[in-house]
Amino acid sequence: MEKRASKHNTDSSLLDIAKEIQGCEKCPLFLGRLHAVPGEGSSESGIVFIGEGPGREEDKRGKPFVGAAGKLLDEMLAEIGLKRDSVFITNIVKCRPPENRDPEPDEVRICTENYLWRQLEIINPKILITLGRHAMHRFIPADKKISVVHGKLFRLKSPTSGKMFNVLPQYHPAAALYNGGMRGILMKDFKKIPRILKTLSS
Ligand code: URA
Repeated sequence: MEKRASKHNTDSSLLDIAKEIQGCEKCPLFLGRLHAVPGEGSSESGIVFIGEGPGREEDKRGKPFVGAAGKLLDEMLAEIGLKRDSVFITNIVKCRPPENRDPEPDEVRICTENYLWRQLEIINPKILITLGRHAMHRFIPADKKISVVHGKLFRLKSPTSGKMFNVLPQYHPAAALYNGGMRGILMKDFKKIPRILKTLSS
């Protein structure tokens, strides 16, 4: 089995990155933020959720997924027996894009190269769950459609270390907020997480 870093070392390295993110001025998104949102939670379960970027509520509080989509994420985690603080939750970009526009390719590149890949190398997750197509396309080739690949497990190489990651793309909880059908699909995909984890560790 792959060796994991000690919890103390992992936590303090993640904290160092969080401090860097809070002071980051590497792309124009810092100009409009109230708070940067580095991500939070535990690295111990080996489960990492990755959204697109902070919204208004996340920007206000400096925490990921604390608005309406976050509430749904919490509910879905509870359905599969996971608490929010037992997983690590972060985003592709750590500062809110103005008016919640899509992040620009350069903003995504700068943020992921400087922060996301480093967070992932430190956490060394068993599984990465991308929420929505923007997060998915950081990992999965652009010709793949989320409507086709959601809930399917991919094994992909990290561009920085060459390490292999298990990636499970899912729809974004915001897409399911006012759409019962989508909520059912998302829940079905969530229910695959414990089963996949079991097979990964056997
Ligand atoms: N949507 C996201 O993609 N990330 C958040 O943190 C909140 C909403």
